[in-house]
Formats: sequence, C-alpha cells, structure tokens
Amino acid sequence: MTKQKPTPAAFARPAERLRASPSFVQALTLDGRPYVAKETEPYIQYWLSERERVLLGQFAARGGASLAEATAGYFRSRGLAPTAAERARVARDIAGMREAGVLMGADEDTSRYDARIVRDYVAHRPFPREIAQAIVDSAAIGRDTRVVDLAGGPGDLALALAARSQRVSLMELSRGFLAAARKRARDLGVPLATVHDSCNRLVYRDDTWDVATVSQALHWLDDVAVCRGLVRALAAGGHFFVVHSAMEVPDTHPLAYLLGHDSILGRKARAPFATEVQPLVRRLDRLFEALDTTAVQRVDLNERGAGGGAGLRADGVALFRQARPFGLGYARGFLTPRHIAVTGMTPEDFWADAEARCAAAAPAQLMGTHHWALLHFRRGGLGEWPDLLALAPREIGYESA
Ligand SMILES: C[S@@+](CC[C@H](N)C(=O)[O-])C[C@H]1O[C@@H](n2cnc3c(N)ncnc32)[C@H](O)[C@@H]1O
Repeated sequence: MTKQKPTPAAFARPAERLRASPSFVQALTLDGRPYVAKETEPYIQYWLSERERVLLGQFAARGGASLAEATAGYFRSRGLAPTAAERARVARDIAGMREAGVLMGADEDTSRYDARIVRDYVAHRPFPREIAQAIVDSAAIGRDTRVVDLAGGPGDLALALAARSQRVSLMELSRGFLAAARKRARDLGVPLATVHDSCNRLVYRDDTWDVATVSQALHWLDDVAVCRGLVRALAAGGHFFVVHSAMEVPDTHPLAYLLGHDSILGRKARAPFATEVQPLVRRLDRLFEALDTTAVQRVDLNERGAGGGAGLRADGVALFRQARPFGLGYARGFLTPRHIAVTGMTPEDFWADAEARCAAAAPAQLMGTHHWALLHFRRGGLGEWPDLLALAPREIGYESA
C-alpha cells in the first residue's frame, strides 16, 4: 500500500484543471473499503476516505475540474456547509491524490512514453508491413470490418489496418502516442478512431468488434481482463491476434551493455525465440479454455458472447526474423527515464556515452535480429498449435520510417 503524505503545494496553480487518472481503477475491499489501484507500473494502491471517494468523482469528466469546481461539487453533493476547516481538508485531500498520481493535470500524459520517445519510436520501431498484411489476409479484413488495436502506441499497425477498413479504433493510454496516431491518420487520409483508455477495462457489449489485435503490449496489460473482455466483445467468427517480439544483438554490439543478453538492465536467456513464445501460447490457450468452460456453475456476463458459445481458439501462428540496425535511435525509442535511472547516470551522461559508442562503431556492428511471432485466435478456431520449435521463421525486411 502506498499513500503519499498530502502536501497542499501539489495543487500549486488553483486554476489548473485536474482529472481522475485513467490508469487507476476504483475497487472495494471485501469489507467494503474503497481504494483505487494503478493498473500500470509502478503499481500503487491508494486507500480512499469517504471524502476522497466523493472528491474523486468530481474529477471524473474527461476535461477534468478546477479546484473551485471540484470543491463546490463536493459540498453540493454532500449537502455540507463549506467551513474553512472543511475546505482546508478538501484541498489537502486533492493535493494528496495529485501527489500519488490518482489525480493528474487534465492535459498531462499518463504514459511513460514522452514526446521525445514518441518521435524516436515512430522513426525507429516501425511495425513490419508483412505482419500487418498477414493479419489483413488471415482475418479477411475488408471495408466494414470492425477492428480494435489494443495498446497500439503511435498507430503503425492500426494505420495499416485502417488502409483496408474504415472502422478501425486504437485504444491507448499514452496521449502522446494517440496524438501522433491521429496526426499520421490525417496525413495519410485514413479514418482512425482513437480511444484514450486502459485496455484493462474492456467492458464492451457483445459483437462490438470483428478483429482485435495487440502488439508488443500484452505483457503490460492484465491479460485475464483483456481476454475476458474479448470473449464477450468479439463477434461470431471474430479474430484475435497477438504479436510478440524480442530483439537480439550480438555481444560485440556497441549497445550490448543495454540491449544484449547480459545487460545492466537484466539477463535474457540465450534460447531460441520459439521457447519464449511457447509459454505465452500455453497461457493464452488455458485462459480462453477457462473462460469457455461450462463445468462451473456461475453467473457470468462474459459467458455468452456473440459467438454463441464458440470460444476463442488457436487458429495459426507465424514466426518472422528481421535483420535490422539497433542504433542510438532505437535505444532512444526504447529506453525510458526509468531504465536510465537504473544505471545511476544522469540522462545527459547516459546518452552522451551511448552516442559515442554508436559513433565509434561500423554500421555492420549495429546490426541485430528482431524476432516476431504472430499468434492467431479465432472463435471456433482449430484449437491446435504446430510445434513452434520446428517452425521456420519467415525473413522480412526492415524499413525505417
Ligand atoms: C511497446 S508499446 C507497443 C505499441 C504498439 N502496439 C507497437 O507494436 O508498436 C506498449 C504500449 O502499451 C501501452 N499501454 C501500456 N499499458 C496500457 C494500458 N493499460 N492500456 C492501454 N495502453 C497501454 C503503452 O502506452 C504503449 O503504447
């Protein structure tokens, strides 16, 4: 449990609009005590007093509320007289929630991806055309196919799908990524709906989408919540694609100390990529199987999705190998201030050092391999996976944006 000490200074500009952070969800303990829990790293639980619970509701609107509006709304809803002492308590509570991130500036970004990372991400982490095409082909995406790309980042995959279908949505927590995706959609002249919300709250009606995709992001999400939501929201015959990826650089790579097998950020097994994909496949299989079981008597709105009981089942898998450079741009689109903090260096020193190492290397030394897996689930799918270790990956090209 983390509850920061309230400091009224956190609401330094009284005219500023604050809103409830979409990264936090409200919950109740078994004995009925309310709290909010953050769904993304760093995970925080913040226990709410009755006053805080009511106050938080004042900031629920998308545009947020000012201190004056929220305070007035609070006193109105509780039918209390706004005494000076009670006003001070309200201001302190709001400051405390702000400090913990439960409340945030109405225009602030929720995500660890800031504007600079967005630029480098778009330029140096392009989504492979071949994989987008494989999704289009496998799901026969056409003009009216309803598609959602979950945690879609700056929109590469969603935009590729929007070139086929007029009904593509991208759901993302990062405002910076959403803004980039919207601009790119405008520039390309393709329709793209954007939803600023957590994918851990996929509370949608039956038959909302024909296709859902999630690329390089399921590990950030609550996969149980995502799968439960999709079991309900995917249409009969609906498809779900999971893209998983891993980079591999040789030990001689100038950034091996950051991106390599034995990096200062952690250790990665020197095992074939397929062995990394296998547990993911097993887990998702079991999840969908459990969500589909009729052996347990329960009342569960998720049980009867539009598929009329046809659960989501494995329907195919493809592996891809992409030779590509992992240079300074990639590192900038990948490493966040939190990674850099681990090194104990200031961001300036950290980047100056990385830049010098890359500048001293020949272009060939920057090359590595990006491994990709495309998992396909379909309502009423085959339910069987091939032996991933025996599967030959398809070589694909690299095009920087
Ligand atoms: C590595 S990026 C992947 C982006 C994109 N799908 C791609 O393949 O390039 C992970 C994304 O997950 C998003 N994300 C993390 N937690 C989320 C959540 N709870 N709801 C929505 N998006 C989330 C991040 O903002 C980020 O854009």
